[in-house]
Formats: sequence, C-alpha cells, structure tokens
Amino acid sequence: MRPLTTIPQLKGKRVLIRVDYNVPLKGSKIVDARRIESSYKTIDAILKKGGVPVLLAHLGDGKESLAPIARFLSKRYKKLLFLKGPIEGGAREWVLSHSTKGMVILLENLRRSKGETGNSVTYARALAALGEVYVNDAFSVSHRAHASVVGLPKLLPSYAGYQLMREIAALSPVVSETVPHPFLFILGGAKFDTKIPLIKHFIERADGVVIAGAILNTFYKAAGYTVGKSVVESGFEKTIAPLLASPALLLPTDVVVTRGTAALTLSVDEVQKGDVIVDIGKESIARIAEKIAKAKLVVWNGPTGWYEKGYTKGTVSLARAIAQSRARAVIGGGDTTAVLEKMLQKIPTNKRIFISTGGGATLEYLSRGALPGIEALG
Ligand code: 3PG
Repeated sequence: MRPLTTIPQLKGKRVLIRVDYNVPLKGSKIVDARRIESSYKTIDAILKKGGVPVLLAHLGDGKESLAPIARFLSKRYKKLLFLKGPIEGGAREWVLSHSTKGMVILLENLRRSKGETGNSVTYARALAALGEVYVNDAFSVSHRAHASVVGLPKLLPSYAGYQLMREIAALSPVVSETVPHPFLFILGGAKFDTKIPLIKHFIERADGVVIAGAILNTFYKAAGYTVGKSVVESGFEKTIAPLLASPALLLPTDVVVTRGTAALTLSVDEVQKGDVIVDIGKESIARIAEKIAKAKLVVWNGPTGWYEKGYTKGTVSLARAIAQSRARAVIGGGDTTAVLEKMLQKIPTNKRIFISTGGGATLEYLSRGALPGIEALG
C-alpha cells in the first residue's frame, strides 16, 4: 500500500478519490459532517500538488442524490462542480473539459449504477477513464467489494489517502500481537451475528471483554436468566456456552429495566417476565469504570443501552470514564457510532481517544486485520 505522501507531482492530472460521504441527513441538512471533513486533508494535498480531485462517493442504497453534500462542500471548495448525471455516457468529455486548476469535481451517487455494487469491470473501466490516479480515502467503505473500492485500484496507479492511513494507524495496533495490557474490550449494540467474530477474537486477547447493549440480553438468556420481554436474538446458545466459561468475560450484574411505566435498577437475577432490559445498572457502570481506569487500551463498540428510547446513562458514563482515564481508546463501529460520537462531543477527545469513521468496516477490520479495499491497494 503506497501512502499519498509518496505520490509524485500531479500537475493537471485528474485524481479519482474514493471518499465516504454516506452521512446522516435530516431532509437536506447534514446531521454529522465528520466523514466529509475527514476527507479535506487528502483533497487539499491533491490540489496543492496541482491535481484535480474527482470525488467518488455513495449515499444510502443509491436512491438519494449527493446534492446536499455538494452544497456543503462548495462552502469550502468554491470551484466545486457537481456532475448530476450518470457516469456512463458523456461523463468523460464533461470531466475532461472541466478539469482546470483549482477545480474539485463531485460525481453523483455511485450506487445509482448496479455496476458499482456488482463490482462490474465495465463500470470500473468507465470510472477509470475519468482519471489518471486513484486514491482510497474511505476506510469506512473498504469492507465493500465494490467497483470504486476494489475494481479501480487494479486499473490505475493507486494510493492510500490520509483518512484511510489515519484509521489504519489507530486500529492496527489493536489487532497486532503486541497490544498494550491491561486491554479492555467493550461491546454493546445489537446484531449479535455480526459481533460473534469480534467476541471470539478478543476473548482470547483482551484481559476483559464487557458485553452490554441488546447483545447482553442474548448472553443472559443463554446463561439461564429471565430476560422478560427484552430484545433477544435466538439460536446462539451453542455459540455462547463456551464464551460463558471464559475468565475474560465480564457480564454486567445489574440492569435498568422498564416495568410498565417505571424504570427500575435491579440485579440481573431479579428481572421478571414482563420486564424490558434497557441499560446496564450503576453497580456495573462503576465496575467497568474501575477496569477502564486501570486499562492501557480500551476498544469500545456500540452503546450499552437502548439509546433510541433515551437510555444513554451507561454509554455516557463509560465515555466519561474513558475521558478521565489515561487509557488509549478506540471507539467506533455499527449504526450507533453517530449517537456515540454526539455524546462524545461533550467530552474533550484528543490523540489518546480515536473515534473511527467506520461502521461495518471497523468491525471487520478489528476481527481480521484487513479489508478488501486495503488489500486491493496492494
Ligand atoms: C457506512 O455507512 O458504514 C459506509 O458508508 C458503508 O455503507 P454501507 O454499509 O451502506 O455499505
């Protein structure tokens, strides 16, 4: 993998940059612009070297337009041009005729074409015809074997952008053999099946693996506790049984439940049939905070409670414990990252605390130490 810093002069060259502008929107308002902002360093570097950045991005499953992103970007890049049409057809001529010094070109949502998600060679070639150099600056899309992620680097001289390099620099020590100890891994959120590889991986390597969020209910059920009407994923009892025996596994001992209209904090063995577990309890928060205070490294993925319903106390408390500790921390992953980041905005983050831009990509990278888009860079 060649870093962008090794790129030669780019005078007049069109540089295709795969970025991740899949950001949360409310109407046409961008709720969290972090992913967009994280691409500036790479775009600026290309401009400085005299190249013309051609930005390749997706939004959702392809139905939506990148027009709100174009408006946002044009506040910073005054010479931004947005190609609204599909890239098949006359796009090449349009891009060539508009590629003048200082220009930044943004193409419309790549997922409007099946060729992107199907990783079609024809589509990758059509993209490649728009530029002379390729840069992957989208760590958070690099788990997708799509044309703009794995097809393009086969066709053009390819480099890793600053955002991609920053993510790898922060996450690779966590998957290496020499992680600092004590190492605490905290896993919350839902979607148990996507998290099994991570639990199996870290139960062998971390000094403690804390389970929280909706996946905790699935653990409790497999351990024989009553979980009432809590969200549970079934069929995982056999997977969980050997994990329950691990000395590294740390299951919270108290929980917050809703019972009718009341919210109660109970020991896990006091949960009743009609209860819904919505967060971890204060005794557990204190125990985990103690572990965080002693840790050299904390990796945290997913909130501890049902944040959509407002049960954020466990998550906020753990974020505070991390901020007050001396541990290096890597936080990210899952659909919940945006929520977690919003909470963490209240807490000063610094070099010690790294918030990954990735969702599924971070999960996959943490469990296998590689991603298709990174491997495609060679
Ligand atoms: C993300 O939001 O995690 C990335 O943009 C990838 O999007 P996807 O999960 O829709 O492929």
